[in-house]
Amino acid sequence: MTERYSLSQYCQNKIILIDDALSQYTPVDAYPPEIYDAMRYSLFAGGKRLRPIMLMAAADAVGGCGSNYLPVACGLEMIHTYSLIHDDLPAMDNDDYRRGKLTNHKIYGDGMAILAGDGLLTAAFSTMLSQPNVDSAILVNVVREIAAAAGASGMVGGQAVDLASEGQTIDAKTLEFMHQAKTGALFKAALRAGALLANASKHEIEALTNYANQFGLAFQITDDILDVVGTQDKIGKPVGSDMRNQKVTYVTLYSLDGAKQLAQKAVDNALASLIGFGSEAEILRDLVEYLITREA
Ligand code: IPE
Ligand code: IPE
Ligand code: MG
Ligand code: MG
Ligand code: MG
Repeated sequence: MTERYSLSQYCQNKIILIDDALSQYTPVDAYPPEIYDAMRYSLFAGGKRLRPIMLMAAADAVGGCGSNYLPVACGLEMIHTYSLIHDDLPAMDNDDYRRGKLTNHKIYGDGMAILAGDGLLTAAFSTMLSQPNVDSAILVNVVREIAAAAGASGMVGGQAVDLASEGQTIDAKTLEFMHQAKTGALFKAALRAGALLANASKHEIEALTNYANQFGLAFQITDDILDVVGTQDKIGKPVGSDMRNQKVTYVTLYSLDGAKQLAQKAVDNALASLIGFGSEAEILRDLVEYLITREA
C-alpha cells in the first residue's frame, strides 16, 4: 500500500533531495566563482521547488518512483530559476526582491545576472542529460519537450507577449495564451516528464496533461492575485509589480473576484482530470488544494 504522506511532509522530503542534488550539480568550489556564486545565490534563495516536486509526484502517481529522476527534476528548477533572474532585470519587470532576498542583479549587477541565467539554462540541459537508468529514446523525448516548453513556443514566448503587452490592451484569448505559455508550459513539461519517465500509459499521460494545463493556468492567475492582495513578507517579492509595469493580468481584465472565480474553475477542472487515479495521486490533489489557498 502506498504510504499516505501529508503534502508538507512530502514536499519537505523532496526538497531535501532536490537541494542536495542541486548543490552537487553546482558545487561551491566550482570555477570560475564569479558565475557559480551568482548562479547558486538564486538557486538557493528559497524557492518552493514546485516544478521538480510535481515531476516526482507525477511519476509517483503512475506507480513509478519520482525520486529516481532528480537530474531531470533539478534541470527544470534551474530553467525556472533562470527565468526568474531574467524576469526581475531592469529591462523586464525591474524588481528588487525575489524569494525574500535582493534580486540577482541587485547583488551581482545586470551583466552577471544575465550570465547567471545563461549558466543555469545551459547547466539544466547537461544535468538533465546525465539522468541515469532511463531508456535513451525516452530521455531524448523528455528533454526535447522541456526545451520546447522553455523556449519561444513556451515560457520565452509567453514572456515576450507579456513584455509586448505592457501598457496595451489584450483580449482574453491572448491573456490565456500568455499565462499558459509563460507559466503553464513548464508545469506541463514537469508533469509530462514525470509520467513519461515512469512509463505511464497513454491514458495516464493524457489525464496528467489536462491536469497540468489547468494547474498552470490557475497558478499564474493566483500569482496575479497575490501581486495585488499578497504581502511581500509571504510572497518574498514586491507586491504591486504588475500595476507599476502596467501589465495586463487576470485581475486587470476580470477584477479580483472574476480572477478568483476563473482560478477556482481551473482548479475544479484540474481535480476532475484526476478522477481515474487512486490514492497514489493524492499529492497531486493536495497540490491543487494548496494552489487555491496559497499565500506564497
Ligand atoms: C513564480 O514561480 C513565477 C511564476 C511562474 C508565477 P514560483 O511561485 O513557483 O516561485 P518560486 O520558485 O517559489 O520562487
Ligand atoms: C513571470 O511572471 C513568469 C516567468 C516565466 C518568470 P511574473 O512576472 O508575474 O512572475 P513574478 O510575479 O515576477 O514571480
Ligand atoms: Mg514578468
Ligand atoms: Mg515578474
Ligand atoms: Mg507575478
